[in-house]
Amino acid sequence: MLSVKDLFVAYGQSEALHGISFEAGKKETVAIMGRNGMGKTTLFKSLMGVLPTKSGVVTVAGQDVTRDESFRRVAKGIAYVPQGRMIFPTLTVEENIQTGLENSKDRIIPQDIYALFPVLWDMRRRKGGNLSGGQQQQLAIARALVTDPKVLLLDEPTEGIQPSIIKDIAKALNEIRKLRDITIVVSEQVLSFALDVADRLFVIEGGRLVHETARVDTDVAHIKQYLSV
Ligand SMILES: Nc1ncnc2c1ncn2[C@@H]1O[C@H](COP(=O)(O)OP(=O)(O)O)[C@@H](O)[C@H]1O
Ligand SMILES: [Mg+2]
Repeated sequence: MLSVKDLFVAYGQSEALHGISFEAGKKETVAIMGRNGMGKTTLFKSLMGVLPTKSGVVTVAGQDVTRDESFRRVAKGIAYVPQGRMIFPTLTVEENIQTGLENSKDRIIPQDIYALFPVLWDMRRRKGGNLSGGQQQQLAIARALVTDPKVLLLDEPTEGIQPSIIKDIAKALNEIRKLRDITIVVSEQVLSFALDVADRLFVIEGGRLVHETARVDTDVAHIKQYLSV
Protein backbone atom coordinates (compact mmCIF):
# COMPACT_ATOMS: atom_id res chain seq x y z
CA MET A 1 0.00 0.00 0.00
CA LEU A 2 2.82 2.40 0.89
CA SER A 3 6.16 2.00 -0.83
CA VAL A 4 9.19 4.16 -0.11
CA LYS A 5 12.26 3.65 -2.28
CA ASP A 6 15.67 5.17 -1.69
CA LEU A 7 14.39 8.41 -0.22
CA PHE A 8 16.87 11.25 0.21
CA VAL A 9 15.81 14.47 1.95
CA ALA A 10 17.93 17.52 2.77
CA TYR A 11 17.59 20.80 4.63
CA GLY A 12 19.52 23.03 2.24
CA GLN A 13 23.01 21.56 1.98
CA SER A 14 22.51 19.33 4.99
CA GLU A 15 21.19 15.89 4.08
CA ALA A 16 18.95 14.40 6.78
CA LEU A 17 17.69 11.17 5.16
CA HIS A 18 20.21 9.07 3.27
CA GLY A 19 18.25 6.53 1.26
CA ILE A 20 15.26 5.24 3.23
CA SER A 21 13.42 2.24 1.77
CA PHE A 22 10.52 0.28 3.23
CA GLU A 23 7.07 -0.98 2.37
CA ALA A 24 3.90 -1.34 4.41
CA GLY A 25 0.96 -3.48 3.36
CA LYS A 26 -2.79 -3.17 3.63
CA LYS A 27 -3.98 -3.67 7.23
CA GLU A 28 -0.36 -3.63 8.34
CA THR A 29 1.08 -1.36 11.03
CA VAL A 30 4.78 -0.57 11.03
CA ALA A 31 6.71 1.37 13.64
CA ILE A 32 9.74 3.54 12.99
CA MET A 33 11.70 3.62 16.24
CA GLY A 34 14.43 6.09 16.98
CA ARG A 35 15.83 8.63 19.38
CA ASN A 36 15.44 12.39 19.03
CA GLY A 37 17.15 13.83 15.98
CA MET A 38 17.36 10.56 14.05
CA GLY A 39 15.03 11.62 11.22
CA LYS A 40 11.52 10.44 12.12
CA THR A 41 9.79 13.79 11.65
CA THR A 42 11.82 14.53 8.51
CA LEU A 43 10.67 11.20 7.07
CA PHE A 44 7.01 11.87 7.84
CA LYS A 45 7.13 15.44 6.55
CA SER A 46 8.64 14.27 3.30
CA LEU A 47 6.05 11.49 2.95
CA MET A 48 3.37 14.13 3.43
CA GLY A 49 4.95 16.56 0.95
CA VAL A 50 5.69 19.18 3.60
CA LEU A 51 9.41 18.79 2.81
CA PRO A 52 10.66 18.30 -0.74
CA THR A 53 12.21 15.00 -1.77
CA LYS A 54 15.74 15.20 -3.16
CA SER A 55 15.49 11.79 -4.77
CA GLY A 56 13.63 8.54 -4.37
CA VAL A 57 10.08 7.42 -5.03
CA VAL A 58 7.00 7.24 -2.80
CA THR A 59 3.88 5.43 -3.98
CA VAL A 60 0.48 4.93 -2.36
CA ALA A 61 -1.62 2.06 -3.70
CA GLY A 62 0.59 2.08 -6.80
CA GLN A 63 0.21 5.82 -7.45
CA ASP A 64 3.39 7.88 -7.48
CA VAL A 65 3.05 10.83 -5.08
CA THR A 66 6.72 11.86 -4.91
CA ARG A 67 6.25 15.21 -6.65
CA ASP A 68 2.75 15.94 -5.32
CA GLU A 69 1.90 18.77 -2.97
CA SER A 70 0.35 17.80 0.36
CA PHE A 71 -3.28 18.33 -0.66
CA ARG A 72 -2.85 15.98 -3.62
CA ARG A 73 -1.33 13.37 -1.34
CA VAL A 74 -4.36 13.67 0.94
CA ALA A 75 -6.60 13.09 -2.09
CA LYS A 76 -4.52 10.04 -2.99
CA GLY A 77 -5.02 8.62 0.48
CA ILE A 78 -2.34 9.82 2.91
CA ALA A 79 -3.29 11.33 6.27
CA TYR A 80 -0.86 12.77 8.79
CA VAL A 81 -0.97 13.34 12.52
CA PRO A 82 2.01 15.61 13.19
CA GLN A 83 4.24 15.47 16.23
CA GLY A 84 2.75 17.73 18.91
CA ARG A 85 -0.76 17.12 17.51
CA MET A 86 -1.38 20.63 16.19
CA ILE A 87 -5.10 20.79 16.85
CA PHE A 88 -6.89 24.15 16.72
CA PRO A 89 -7.17 25.27 20.38
CA THR A 90 -9.95 27.83 19.87
CA LEU A 91 -12.20 25.56 17.78
CA THR A 92 -14.48 23.03 19.44
CA VAL A 93 -13.78 19.33 19.20
CA GLU A 94 -16.53 19.00 16.61
CA GLU A 95 -15.15 21.88 14.54
CA ASN A 96 -11.64 20.47 14.74
CA ILE A 97 -12.82 17.16 13.31
CA GLN A 98 -14.76 19.00 10.61
CA THR A 99 -11.58 20.69 9.38
CA GLY A 100 -10.68 17.23 8.07
CA LEU A 101 -13.94 17.21 6.11
CA GLU A 102 -13.33 20.44 4.19
CA ASN A 103 -13.65 18.72 0.84
CA SER A 104 -16.74 16.65 1.64
CA LYS A 105 -20.22 17.90 0.76
CA ASP A 106 -22.07 17.69 4.07
CA ARG A 107 -19.30 17.93 6.71
CA ILE A 108 -21.13 15.30 8.77
CA ILE A 109 -18.82 13.46 11.13
CA PRO A 110 -19.12 9.69 10.59
CA GLN A 111 -20.51 7.94 13.70
CA ASP A 112 -17.70 5.39 13.79
CA ILE A 113 -15.29 8.20 14.71
CA TYR A 114 -17.09 8.80 18.01
CA ALA A 115 -17.42 5.03 18.52
CA LEU A 116 -13.62 4.81 18.34
CA PHE A 117 -13.11 7.79 20.63
CA PRO A 118 -16.10 8.07 23.00
CA VAL A 119 -14.36 10.81 24.96
CA LEU A 120 -14.57 13.07 21.89
CA TRP A 121 -18.35 12.67 21.83
CA ASP A 122 -18.56 13.73 25.48
CA MET A 123 -16.29 16.70 24.76
CA ARG A 124 -17.64 17.64 21.34
CA ARG A 125 -18.71 21.17 22.34
CA ARG A 126 -15.53 21.95 24.30
CA LYS A 127 -12.65 23.94 22.89
CA GLY A 128 -9.73 21.82 21.69
CA GLY A 129 -7.34 23.82 23.86
CA ASN A 130 -9.18 22.69 27.00
CA LEU A 131 -8.55 18.99 26.34
CA SER A 132 -5.77 16.98 27.96
CA GLY A 133 -2.77 15.98 25.85
CA GLY A 134 -4.15 12.48 25.40
CA GLN A 135 -7.56 13.77 24.37
CA GLN A 136 -5.93 16.16 21.89
CA GLN A 137 -4.02 13.24 20.40
CA GLN A 138 -7.26 11.30 19.97
CA LEU A 139 -8.77 14.39 18.37
CA ALA A 140 -5.85 14.70 15.95
CA ILE A 141 -6.24 11.04 14.97
CA ALA A 142 -10.00 11.47 14.52
CA ARG A 143 -9.44 14.49 12.28
CA ALA A 144 -7.01 12.49 10.14
CA LEU A 145 -9.38 9.53 9.87
CA VAL A 146 -12.37 11.40 8.47
CA THR A 147 -10.55 11.73 5.12
CA ASP A 148 -10.82 7.91 4.98
CA PRO A 149 -7.09 7.49 4.31
CA LYS A 150 -5.37 4.44 2.87
CA VAL A 151 -2.22 5.33 4.80
CA LEU A 152 -2.20 6.96 8.23
CA LEU A 153 1.06 8.52 9.44
CA LEU A 154 1.43 9.21 13.17
CA ASP A 155 4.52 11.03 14.36
CA GLU A 156 5.30 10.17 18.01
CA PRO A 157 1.67 9.91 19.14
CA THR A 158 2.55 9.00 22.72
CA GLU A 159 4.89 11.94 23.36
CA GLY A 160 3.94 13.62 26.64
CA ILE A 161 0.92 11.40 27.24
CA GLN A 162 0.15 9.51 30.44
CA PRO A 163 0.39 5.68 30.38
CA SER A 164 -3.34 4.94 30.79
CA ILE A 165 -4.16 7.10 27.76
CA ILE A 166 -1.32 5.52 25.77
CA LYS A 167 -3.18 2.23 26.23
CA ASP A 168 -6.39 3.83 24.92
CA ILE A 169 -4.59 5.08 21.84
CA ALA A 170 -3.09 1.65 21.16
CA LYS A 171 -6.55 0.12 21.51
CA ALA A 172 -8.04 2.64 19.09
CA LEU A 173 -5.32 2.04 16.48
CA ASN A 174 -5.85 -1.71 16.68
CA GLU A 175 -9.61 -1.20 16.37
CA ILE A 176 -9.17 1.10 13.35
CA ARG A 177 -7.25 -1.45 11.38
CA LYS A 178 -9.77 -4.16 12.19
CA LEU A 179 -12.52 -1.93 10.79
CA ARG A 180 -10.73 -0.45 7.79
CA ASP A 181 -8.33 -1.43 5.02
CA ILE A 182 -5.73 0.94 6.34
CA THR A 183 -1.95 1.00 6.60
CA ILE A 184 -0.54 2.69 9.69
CA VAL A 185 3.00 4.02 10.01
CA VAL A 186 3.88 5.27 13.46
CA SER A 187 7.11 6.77 14.72
CA GLU A 188 7.90 6.09 18.36
CA GLN A 189 10.39 6.08 21.18
CA VAL A 190 8.10 4.05 23.49
CA LEU A 191 8.82 0.42 22.66
CA SER A 192 5.93 -1.08 24.67
CA PHE A 193 3.45 0.98 22.64
CA ALA A 194 5.08 -0.02 19.35
CA LEU A 195 4.91 -3.68 20.37
CA ASP A 196 1.19 -3.22 21.14
CA VAL A 197 0.35 -1.88 17.69
CA ALA A 198 2.99 -2.78 15.09
CA ASP A 199 3.47 -5.92 13.01
CA ARG A 200 6.97 -4.88 12.04
CA LEU A 201 9.45 -2.49 13.61
CA PHE A 202 12.26 -0.52 12.03
CA VAL A 203 14.99 1.46 13.76
CA ILE A 204 16.08 4.76 12.26
CA GLU A 205 19.49 6.14 13.15
CA GLY A 206 21.22 9.11 11.56
CA GLY A 207 18.68 9.20 8.71
CA ARG A 208 19.04 5.52 7.80
CA LEU A 209 17.01 2.43 8.64
CA VAL A 210 19.51 0.27 10.46
CA HIS A 211 17.38 -2.57 11.82
CA GLU A 212 14.14 -4.35 10.90
CA THR A 213 12.22 -7.01 12.80
CA ALA A 214 8.81 -8.64 12.89
CA ARG A 215 7.05 -8.01 16.20
CA VAL A 216 7.07 -11.71 17.07
CA ASP A 217 10.84 -11.90 16.60
CA THR A 218 11.67 -8.66 18.36
CA ASP A 219 14.86 -8.66 20.39
CA VAL A 220 13.66 -6.11 22.95
CA ALA A 221 17.07 -5.58 24.56
CA HIS A 222 18.63 -4.93 21.16
CA ILE A 223 16.07 -2.29 20.19
CA LYS A 224 16.33 -0.67 23.62
CA GLN A 225 20.03 -0.13 22.96
CA TYR A 226 19.18 1.99 19.95
CA LEU A 227 16.67 3.99 21.97
CA SER A 228 18.86 4.72 24.98
CA VAL A 229 21.14 7.73 24.90
N1 LIG B 1 14.27 22.69 9.87
C1 LIG B 1 15.44 22.04 9.92
N2 LIG B 1 16.56 22.58 9.37
C2 LIG B 1 17.75 21.93 9.41
N3 LIG B 1 17.92 20.72 9.98
C3 LIG B 1 16.86 20.14 10.55
C4 LIG B 1 15.57 20.77 10.55
N4 LIG B 1 14.69 19.95 11.19
C5 LIG B 1 15.41 18.87 11.57
N5 LIG B 1 16.70 18.98 11.17
C6 LIG B 1 17.77 17.98 11.41
O1 LIG B 1 17.42 16.76 10.79
C7 LIG B 1 17.76 15.66 11.62
C8 LIG B 1 16.52 14.82 11.91
O2 LIG B 1 15.59 15.57 12.70
P1 LIG B 1 14.11 15.07 12.95
O3 LIG B 1 13.58 14.52 11.69
O4 LIG B 1 13.34 16.18 13.57
O5 LIG B 1 14.35 13.89 14.00
P2 LIG B 1 13.32 13.16 14.98
O6 LIG B 1 11.94 13.46 14.54
O7 LIG B 1 13.69 11.72 14.86
O8 LIG B 1 13.60 13.69 16.36
C9 LIG B 1 18.40 16.24 12.87
O9 LIG B 1 19.79 16.21 12.70
C10 LIG B 1 17.91 17.67 12.89
O10 LIG B 1 18.83 18.50 13.50
MG1 LIG C 1 10.36 14.22 15.61
